[in-house]
Amino acid sequence: MPEVVIVGSGIAGLFAALKIADGGHQVTIVTKQRPTDSSTNWAQGGIAGILDKTDGKGMDLHISDTISSGDGLCNENVVRIVVEEAGDRIRDLLSRGVEFEKNEDDFHLAKEGGHSARRILHAKDATGKEIERALSEAVNNHNNITMRPNTLGVDLIQTVHGDPKEGIKGIWCLDLADSIMEAIPADAVLIATGGCGQLWEKTTNPSVASGDGMAMAYRAGANVKDMAFIQFHPTALMVPDDRPFLITEALRGEGGVLLDDKGLKKYRTSDQEPEFFSFTHEYSPDGSLATRDIVARACDQTMKINGSNQVWLVTDHLDSTKLHNEFPTIEKRLNRHNLSLGKDPLPVAPAAHYTVGGLEVDLFGRVITSGNKPMPGLYAIGEVACTGMHGANRLASNSLLEAVVFADRAAKHFVENPNLIDSIIPEWRADGMAILEEHSPLVRDLETLKKTMTDDVGIVRSFDRLNRAKRMLLLLSNEVELIWRKSIPTRDLVELRNLVLIASLITDDALARTENRGLHYNKDII
Ligand code: SIN
Repeated sequence: MPEVVIVGSGIAGLFAALKIADGGHQVTIVTKQRPTDSSTNWAQGGIAGILDKTDGKGMDLHISDTISSGDGLCNENVVRIVVEEAGDRIRDLLSRGVEFEKNEDDFHLAKEGGHSARRILHAKDATGKEIERALSEAVNNHNNITMRPNTLGVDLIQTVHGDPKEGIKGIWCLDLADSIMEAIPADAVLIATGGCGQLWEKTTNPSVASGDGMAMAYRAGANVKDMAFIQFHPTALMVPDDRPFLITEALRGEGGVLLDDKGLKKYRTSDQEPEFFSFTHEYSPDGSLATRDIVARACDQTMKINGSNQVWLVTDHLDSTKLHNEFPTIEKRLNRHNLSLGKDPLPVAPAAHYTVGGLEVDLFGRVITSGNKPMPGLYAIGEVACTGMHGANRLASNSLLEAVVFADRAAKHFVENPNLIDSIIPEWRADGMAILEEHSPLVRDLETLKKTMTDDVGIVRSFDRLNRAKRMLLLLSNEVELIWRKSIPTRDLVELRNLVLIASLITDDALARTENRGLHYNKDII
């Protein structure tokens, strides 16, 4: 039997798999689609970190930028640990074959919103893809790791499901190729399933980001924390007939500027630099490069005031050869739509990007349950986890870093405390279940869910809207539960059930908040 099952194949899952397998344990990675279908693979910007262990000042600045972006809610101990371990973990990535951009002998460092210095290692504008490539190769070549694509984790196995005192004995999975439920027993399960961007109509996340791991751990008795903090990326390209496509903040780090229609008109008829006309200055003196919560809100408000569907990202004042060299992925995407980087204003708008809250974990990635106790055999790493690193608003390019540091910590913890158990696996409740004949109610419910979250639980919230969402989510939850109880699971049913649950946790947390912080903004609160 595999000793460890890891659910998810982004940076956190792959990195932890390698460390645990190096420790001599058998690891199975279950992943819903192809192994590369992960948010990591779509990450453009990079990984923030100070490589030089003697650069105390550099680390202090990284810590203070993270804390200031987190708007007072970061766990400062966690921030220090992550920043201090960054150098070693980035060296681990290099030793696995990840290639970051270089400037002659040294690394080329990029800058993004909220960073007071250049400290982001990157692989042009496709950093996640490069990390995923190198780690996937290492995983494929490792004898102790088995990859199970097209396998959807459905629920964690406990003797009494949902009892928080119960340890985890494995995971129920749906083999999507032949639609069969299967128990995979394990001594430990590491949840690394990423976020839940699929809850909103516009997202930069891939289709796999449906909150599966968070939902299954919650049903098993895990605590969730800070669910209201959903990060919207300010600049997703919005063009007809294409999904929102991330335009990395690093482009603003190189001088890209956000303008509304009026600002664009004024800029075009003047000799001033475009930043002079940016609406973002009404929201922060840092203008287009303020922290993400502020810039996303500025875009959202401006679009609402002007009645427009987008604002503009202008780059025509920048060196186009440099842009061409540093942002080839973006340039290619723009060209598909007859837009030219370094020339045309780019239509952009905010899109759901990152789930800051999630499963509450301790310093070893162990999932916390009631009474502040870790749940035996359950870890969460990467975006699905809430370590306290990001507070109320994640600093750009801190997520790949947090993922790799906590993947390492969880892996080490398991290798040192393997918790080997003899599991008796209960039967999957299959009696009386029928094949789901009509999927159209699920499709309709998913549309309603996304519309509700977009309209009522978006960037700017109100008590009325949140309460409306709560009522709607209760209806949806009842409908989905009725179908769930009598049907053999399918991917769309499992995902919808998970999404509705996560949506309710986000809405409840937002309703309970009495102050505006970071990514949570309720206009009824002064
Ligand atoms: C970006 O490239 O702007 C996204 C990076 C991040 O979300 O940290």
